Amino acid sequence: MNKEFKNSLYAVFGNPIDHSQSPKIHNFFLKKYNFHENYIRVCLEKENFLSDILFFFKNGGKGANITLPFKEKVFSICDSITERARIAGAINTIKKTKKKGLLGDNTDGIGFLSDLIFKKLIKKNFNILLLGAGGAARGVLHPLLNFKCNVYITNRTFSKAEYLSEKFKKFGNIQSVSLNSLHRKNYNLVVNATSTSVLNISPVIPSSLVSKKTIYYDMFYGEKNTSFINFCKKHGAQKVFNGFGMLVNQAAHSFFLWKKIFPNVNDVFYFFERKTVT
Ligand code: ATR
Repeated sequence: MNKEFKNSLYAVFGNPIDHSQSPKIHNFFLKKYNFHENYIRVCLEKENFLSDILFFFKNGGKGANITLPFKEKVFSICDSITERARIAGAINTIKKTKKKGLLGDNTDGIGFLSDLIFKKLIKKNFNILLLGAGGAARGVLHPLLNFKCNVYITNRTFSKAEYLSEKFKKFGNIQSVSLNSLHRKNYNLVVNATSTSVLNISPVIPSSLVSKKTIYYDMFYGEKNTSFINFCKKHGAQKVFNGFGMLVNQAAHSFFLWKKIFPNVNDVFYFFERKTVT
């Protein structure tokens, strides 16, 4: 455990973690709102990550973000869990509270919805096609259904899409759609929640699904356009977005949990010169 780790009050834990933009965003927020504290990134070994996170909080840590592959695995060290984290089945934010110990929360879903609202990409009753049925997809289902959108979920392994649609149908209008019947509907918004962009490949959707009017959103982000975004653009899409806005907005919601201040996300977009990435 290095000295920086011991002296830091905020951190993001994951493995790998080098790519994480969270330190830049949170240190920007901390500075802007006059907190003389810092936020670092820490790569944890997969064997003893729970004791490392507990060590961080025992030594003065006030808050942490948790990222892959630990999001689903930190429930056991939290003393209480917010409802949205329970529904999402994942924790991306932990706060040390005076009275109740470690509080586990999830700001990914609300961060995603906030970005859609901020960019005016969502309306009530929108037909949304969600590609993927893993952790990332699950995390955004409740906010989308709660916003009264119609969610169509598809996945390479169809049984997982069926499972999620069954599990979330109590929250709103959701149905699973097989990959070969995607073309039967017109979607307002298509969201890539698969991990294909990490692998630099595009999920298999028919090119006939791509249109000028539809909005395409890849929850992943990188320096370059993702393969999903390139695929959509190649077939004529004009409204394409990556997950950088989601990242900034989930960070803002985490910051709010820790500091009770909701930071201005516009400042970060300006700072990063990436207002909307296409
Ligand atoms: P995450 O937490 O990032 O969502 P995950 O829970 O492992 O990661 O889920 C990965 C998602 O990407 C799944 O929906 C997966 O589909 P399967 O359930 O069929 O595995 C999807 N995915 C991964 N690689 C894919 C590929 N090459 N083509 C299509 N979908 C893929």
